Amino acid sequence: MSQKITIVGSYNVGLFLKGERLPKKGETIIGDSFRESGGGKGSNQAVAAALLGADTSFVCRIGDDQYGQNALKMYQNFGISTDYVFVDQTIHSGISVILIDNAGNNMISVVPGANYRLSKTDIDSASLLFRSSVMVGFQLENKLDTVLYGIRVAKETGAQVILDPAPALVLPDDIFPLLDYIKPNETEATTITGIPVNDVDSAVRAGEWLVEHGVKTAIVTLGEAGAVAVDEKGACHYPAPKVNCVDATGAGDIFSGAFMCALSHGESFADAIVFANHAAALACTKLGVIEAIPSREDVLGFMKAGGR
Ligand code: RIB
Repeated sequence: MSQKITIVGSYNVGLFLKGERLPKKGETIIGDSFRESGGGKGSNQAVAAALLGADTSFVCRIGDDQYGQNALKMYQNFGISTDYVFVDQTIHSGISVILIDNAGNNMISVVPGANYRLSKTDIDSASLLFRSSVMVGFQLENKLDTVLYGIRVAKETGAQVILDPAPALVLPDDIFPLLDYIKPNETEATTITGIPVNDVDSAVRAGEWLVEHGVKTAIVTLGEAGAVAVDEKGACHYPAPKVNCVDATGAGDIFSGAFMCALSHGESFADAIVFANHAAALACTKLGVIEAIPSREDVLGFMKAGGR
């Protein structure tokens, strides 16, 4: 039996432009394909969690526009509760332009729009939802003040709190003790801790820094090298399965959604990380984010086959 999770965060429509390579500064290149799809780190995490089997609610702000309407339809299709998806009459939905090359590398530019209007009042109204959730997840595509306020409110309700600190920002020291989990990638861990993270050893050092600052468990993701988890008992490296990466966009979001989903099903921490590693790796084998989220059966089959 799974317990309810709530994700608070961003919705950005994703305008994906794929080409052979990424343009250089000041350069125009001709790409070879275009696709519009749902995106935004919070939204991606909510969809991944729901698709993988979690009872999921999403709290966000969208614009009163076609992109926002498409987002609502998407949440309804995936069975995500939208009671706290606020529609803003004064600004457009978040927009992201995502450039992808043939090797699956990406560059993303985001204009937050309605995401930056998510307010403390919105958080207060959603606090009832936090109370009935086992876990509440945040990222950093809303105003930092709102996210920090949300973390405090969620913590007071007794829910476990996870922060995926993306995109990277320096965080105030007093937020760390409120976090049950933090899940930065190499860049984010470097920004937050000041420790250059580029391999397992430096990820362990960054994880230790986070735990010394009060986080219960730090999970530092390292792309194809997997993830390192650190808590007060020590550190553990969880290698990722090897895949042929076509597009890594949103892999971190899918990792977070899958991790929360596994915990909401009562799985152990270690099993949840292994599940998340496999879900994120599989997602890299397909173009897009939402379209690339694997089914629960696919992830379990991939794990059973030893990640091959
Ligand atoms: O993490 C990937 C996401 O970042 C994309 O969906 C894009 O919208 C940006 O928010």
